[in-house]
Amino acid sequence: KLKIVTIGGGSSYTPELMEGMIKRYAAFPVTEICLVDIPDGAEKLAIVGKMAQRMWDSSPYDVKVTTTLDRRAALKDADFVTTQFRVGLLEARIKDERIPLSYGIMGQETNGPGGLFKALRTIPVILDIVQDMKDVCPNAWLINFTNPSGMVTEAIIRYGHWDKVIGLCNVPVNAMMKEPKLIDKTTGELIFEFAGLNHFHWHRVSDAHGHDVTPDIIEAMYHKDDGIPKNIHKVPFIKEQLLDMNLIPCGYHRYYYRAEEMLAHSIEEYNTIGTRAQQVKQIEHELFELYKDPNLDHKPEQLSKRGGAYYSDAACEAMMSIYSNKNTCMVVSTVNRGAVPDLPADCVVEVSANLSGKGALPLAFGHLEAPEAGWLQLMKNMELGICKAAVTGNYGLLLNTVFMNPLVASGATAKQVVDELLLAHAKYLPQF
Ligand code: NAD
Ligand code: G6P
Ligand code: MN
Repeated sequence: KLKIVTIGGGSSYTPELMEGMIKRYAAFPVTEICLVDIPDGAEKLAIVGKMAQRMWDSSPYDVKVTTTLDRRAALKDADFVTTQFRVGLLEARIKDERIPLSYGIMGQETNGPGGLFKALRTIPVILDIVQDMKDVCPNAWLINFTNPSGMVTEAIIRYGHWDKVIGLCNVPVNAMMKEPKLIDKTTGELIFEFAGLNHFHWHRVSDAHGHDVTPDIIEAMYHKDDGIPKNIHKVPFIKEQLLDMNLIPCGYHRYYYRAEEMLAHSIEEYNTIGTRAQQVKQIEHELFELYKDPNLDHKPEQLSKRGGAYYSDAACEAMMSIYSNKNTCMVVSTVNRGAVPDLPADCVVEVSANLSGKGALPLAFGHLEAPEAGWLQLMKNMELGICKAAVTGNYGLLLNTVFMNPLVASGATAKQVVDELLLAHAKYLPQF
């Protein structure tokens, strides 16, 4: 028996997950998949549940997909719980992006001020899920995709006291898939080392002889597709900066290293075609129209318009490595344990790690230079501040934490933004 429970099952990404499991069935023979959602997502859940079942029915494997709004019942005897939910759905993300932008401040739904509010909405829910897991499936692994993935993973461990969790993101997967092609290599020929935080990590790359090829990739990424997700506006990084650090930043670093240009672009979209969340709403609508088609039994091409492409590869590889004690090297959010010595040993970092039946064992990266170490310490302490604010509902701490974000100029306007976001999301912020 191998039971997978997916919370936020009504997500348009679910077919991606099914495809990943069908592909890996021989090594990861799931017997039962249960998709869980809430009443607000019931319609999406019904459509995507049928779509998921059709995908299995057209495969050689006999797997039953069930859907339910009863989370606790679904979790009973789960082996793996994957989470991909969005508290408040896309309407809430629109507010996370638009309210700051209406004051000329970047929203950024994962680690900008918008993302901090996403954390405030999500952390109480994930802690409830952890409580249910303690009660009804205490041996299960939690595979978290829910953003902000690093902060959510931190809260699960620090406040939920649950350590059988792996935080995931598709950004490193995409980088490892595309970057080898930039220098005419394959993924297997290169050694990738990642360190930092979710949506705030850097990596270096070596060839099979241990020779550092990071500068070659940096040179080539200005001319070819480096695999950054579809949702990020591609302002180029400043090359001298990258060559100096000799590290490749993740796509999301643009919001911090080219803050001026990213803000200008976001303001332009805000005033014209709408923010990314508004664009995603349209893509999601098109996807659900396709999923309704009773003849569609495979993941449609249109899903690649979403930023989360290939996320199932991360999810399925992680589950498979734990299940079959495979010891695969993957990039995950997990407890630091000294891998990134510029951060405390007990906090969550996103690093290369070996994944086995014991979970993630992070690989030592070593010290970063002063600028990267400084950024990292600031961002990690911001994450810790928001996790604490999410569980305590401390308004002063919330202000203090939002003011730390480098995308926010502190002061009366920023306080106004915080107050407006608190009001707009009041329904999902019982702690405040
Ligand atoms: P979505 O808006 O479609 O939400 C997914 C589902 O979650 C919806 O059906 C919704 O009803 C449900 N939901 C909301 N609150 C819930 C709750 N309390 N319990 C159970 N279900 C609930 O979102 P989406 O665009 O498909 O993204 C899903 C999530 O995955 C988001 O948090 C997103 O940020 C994250 N994501 C992360 C990565 C990554 O790299 N880590 C990649 C893609 C998406
Ligand atoms: C990337 C990130 C995800 C994020 C997604 C947004 O893949 O890794 O964490 O959720 O982009 O994509 P979207 O299509 O929702 O804007
Ligand atoms: Mn991500």
